[in-house]
Amino acid sequence: MCGIVGSIGLDKPRNYISKGLKMLDYRGYDSAGVAYFDNGIKIYKDVGSVEHLFTIVPEHIDTNLMIGHTRWATHGAPNKNNTHPHISFHKKICLVHNGVIENYKELKKFLLEKGYQFYGETDSEIVANLLEYYYLELKDLPKTIEKIISLLEGSYAICFFASDSKDNLYIFKKGSPLVVGLGKGFNLVASDASPMVEFTTEFIEINDEEYGVINKDKVSIFDKNGNVLDKDVIEKDIELISHDLKGYPHYMLKEIEEIPQTVNRIINHYFINNEFQFDKKLIKDLNESDHIIFIGCGTSYHAGLVGGRYFEKYNKSASRFIASEWAFHPTFPGRKPFIILISQSGETADLIHCLKIIKEQKLKNLVITNTGGSTLDRNCEYSILLRSGIEVSVASTKAYVAQVALFAMLAAALENDKTVVDDLRQSIDVINDIQNNFKPIIQSVAEELKDQKNLFFFGRSFDYFLSLEASLKLKEISYIHSEAVPGGELKHGPIALIEKGLPVIVFVTDPDTASSMRGNIEEVKSRGAKVYVVSTEKLAKEGDTIIVKNYAFYLSSVAISSIAFYLAYYVALAKGLNVDKPRNLAKSVTVE
Ligand code: F6R
Repeated sequence: MCGIVGSIGLDKPRNYISKGLKMLDYRGYDSAGVAYFDNGIKIYKDVGSVEHLFTIVPEHIDTNLMIGHTRWATHGAPNKNNTHPHISFHKKICLVHNGVIENYKELKKFLLEKGYQFYGETDSEIVANLLEYYYLELKDLPKTIEKIISLLEGSYAICFFASDSKDNLYIFKKGSPLVVGLGKGFNLVASDASPMVEFTTEFIEINDEEYGVINKDKVSIFDKNGNVLDKDVIEKDIELISHDLKGYPHYMLKEIEEIPQTVNRIINHYFINNEFQFDKKLIKDLNESDHIIFIGCGTSYHAGLVGGRYFEKYNKSASRFIASEWAFHPTFPGRKPFIILISQSGETADLIHCLKIIKEQKLKNLVITNTGGSTLDRNCEYSILLRSGIEVSVASTKAYVAQVALFAMLAAALENDKTVVDDLRQSIDVINDIQNNFKPIIQSVAEELKDQKNLFFFGRSFDYFLSLEASLKLKEISYIHSEAVPGGELKHGPIALIEKGLPVIVFVTDPDTASSMRGNIEEVKSRGAKVYVVSTEKLAKEGDTIIVKNYAFYLSSVAISSIAFYLAYYVALAKGLNVDKPRNLAKSVTVE
């Protein structure tokens, strides 16, 4: 899980590489490095942030070629030796790599037998040396890349240059993303398009087992056998991939506040002239299937829990799985299952593993993703884009809400039930109301919670699904242990943990379960818990902490999840933590 950037022909590439790496550090931020050509290969790298790296990289660099990397350690500890770029033993090849080479041990053994030595523990350094070994033998870099593609197992996006070919960048990939940005008199490379939008709106997406030879005036892409490919040039909507903080102190806050416009965009894109706009063949395939299987990880899995309920509402049976569980024990309920993969990034390795199985079984499939051009977007049979705009903060917020809103629309489209659109519009009012009126109270609750070690979220039905997401969000950015419990399960175990002063946050927004939830509240209050209740006007009781406007209760995760997101945000802020980049996590989980 790393970010890579490259530039050829650009005057003063330091600027692009430094900004680009900052934009990509959502992909990993253990260590960072750059390399360039200036009378030989120069490398600067260190453990720590991109900001730290650019305190050691010289201000004035005279080069037309530069590559950079931000790392999230997989093979080898985050130390300076393991930090990219990597240089080969005879100093002929310098490379950055995103991904995991599965057969690196046998490749290393081969190279050791040939007399190669290594300074670090990474699989990436092996690839640099393998490139060098075959380059010295074949004397031709494209042929060398073809050979290396045939040898590598695993995932990779690689950008490199050679000490004797300083006017070219070389790229090749499988499994990990890589995009080329086309300029005039220069060309760029990055893990996603966002770092390049300041320089170009034209891009080429590289597919698996393709490679590229890039100089300042030309981009040539080949298949693994060396045949030249005629690649499409794609124009991207800059607004949707911009990293501009727009005056916000953190991406997470910006992204929470973009939720109303995100939901609005989904409605306006997938419901036009009073008609749903989904692919008719997709709707037919969904209607003809007898079981829908939802698969996701983390927050996206939580969206799938809600999505499953929506499809059940329209008489489809559904099951939900965590990708890393399903991948090793795949089950296919129903005679004609249809699989829905859910992934904000579209690059999550566990889901890519699932897709391989789905394809082997020749099952109908759809991905719901925020990332056009991602591996899942390109490889699933159907793809629906969330159109939420890039999500930079590691904690997913607007994409979660978009996933749920999209599921509500898609399920309703099966029976052409248009009431969902008004329900979603009403939810937008609730979200705006929370944004305008409830932040101070959420902030004061955050102050009360910030020194806690444990807390609970309770809810039933849709509020339970929301509780799961609220709990995940709080733990991942505030490092407070929290658990989500369905109200009905309380007496089956968790109540043993209730003691004086333990915070319990309860959602009471579902009319069918409200009175049971009130019963649960009394049970924990009488055991000393400090209870914070979120309720709707219709179901409110005196003393509730936050009372929001009424909304269609099945849309809890759309209408009020921002309360949970603000809470996690303000707790992390109060604890002085890095809100956008919580420890040990990366935005795009490209390793299993
Ligand atoms: C939590 C979070 C993660 C992701 C998970 C799946 O805030 O963001 O739990 O939801 O890593 O990522 P995607 O959706 O990109 O497949």
